[in-house]
Amino acid sequence: MEGKNQSVVSEFVFLPLTNSWDIQLLLFVFSSTLYVVSMTGNSLIVFTVASDPHLHSPMYFLLANLSFIDLGVSSVISPKMIYDLLRKHKVITFRGCITQIFFIHFIGGVEMVLLIAMAFDRYVAICKPLHYLTIMSPKMCILFSVASWVVGLMHSLIQLAFVINLPFCGPNVLDSFYCDFPGFIKLAYVEAHKLKLLVFVNSGFISVGSFFILIISYIVIIFTVHKPSSSGSSKALSTLSAHVTVVVLAFGPVMFIYTWPSSFIHLDKFLSIFDAVVTPFLDPVIYTFRNQEMKMAMMRVFKQIMVYRQIIKHLHTDHS
Ligand SMILES: *[C@@H]1O[C@H](CO)[C@@H](O)[C@H](O)[C@H]1NC(C)=O
Repeated sequence: MEGKNQSVVSEFVFLPLTNSWDIQLLLFVFSSTLYVVSMTGNSLIVFTVASDPHLHSPMYFLLANLSFIDLGVSSVISPKMIYDLLRKHKVITFRGCITQIFFIHFIGGVEMVLLIAMAFDRYVAICKPLHYLTIMSPKMCILFSVASWVVGLMHSLIQLAFVINLPFCGPNVLDSFYCDFPGFIKLAYVEAHKLKLLVFVNSGFISVGSFFILIISYIVIIFTVHKPSSSGSSKALSTLSAHVTVVVLAFGPVMFIYTWPSSFIHLDKFLSIFDAVVTPFLDPVIYTFRNQEMKMAMMRVFKQIMVYRQIIKHLHTDHS
């Protein structure tokens, strides 16, 4: 890549998060553990909701959709990062880089729509309980879930359209552990100010916008629950606080990354790790540990698994 300055960049190099081998090792253990746990936790939620007829309601369908998407959130950045932590030379191909950007924004878009759908679901359940079943019909649920995929895809394609043909001829070192616009555009061989603005406005605007829609809808719900006339219970409030926590976890780091001046680059990196590794792990924890129905359903799943194991054991002993 060196020498001629018109040669085309075919791979990017990630800078190590830190120069200390010990900290890298620690990060390796930490992120691989969280990765395994969040993959297991989210798969378990999808499986539980799909298999338990008690949980066949809009709220749980949307939750299962969110967990399904969290499987993707975990897998876009973490495995490559975990693998890289043990490598001295951390590189990613140009295509790999574009693929990562595509999926980060695709999945991010899907997640935002799902979170808005979940807020809408709670709003209807709490503020218009009598119309809940007619408004949140199976048709509506499918509409939300299709809309989330379409919006995610559109968002990602539009973002990529601006950068796919950028010339990369010069430096190819990314001060990050994954590919995303802020670092990526900086390396392009153009006066990228306008482009930067466009991409940042797009991602930043969407994330900040959805965040405020969500927070406002939750404030409306909380006021409704607090009205003396409503039969609002502490159960509703605890569900809501779980939702608000997830929204803050999902959007906080993203908003910061896309809207803050880039001089806080180290905080950026820290938040990126948080977003890539910790958030998908916390979602199932927050939703299941605070939700009696979900806990009971998981118990049933475990019991079933135990029963199957017994049966399989018996079959084995019968054969031998
Ligand atoms: C997502 O939601 C739709 C609509 O309710 C549902 O049919 C589907 O099973 C859900 N997907 C997952 C993975 O839970």
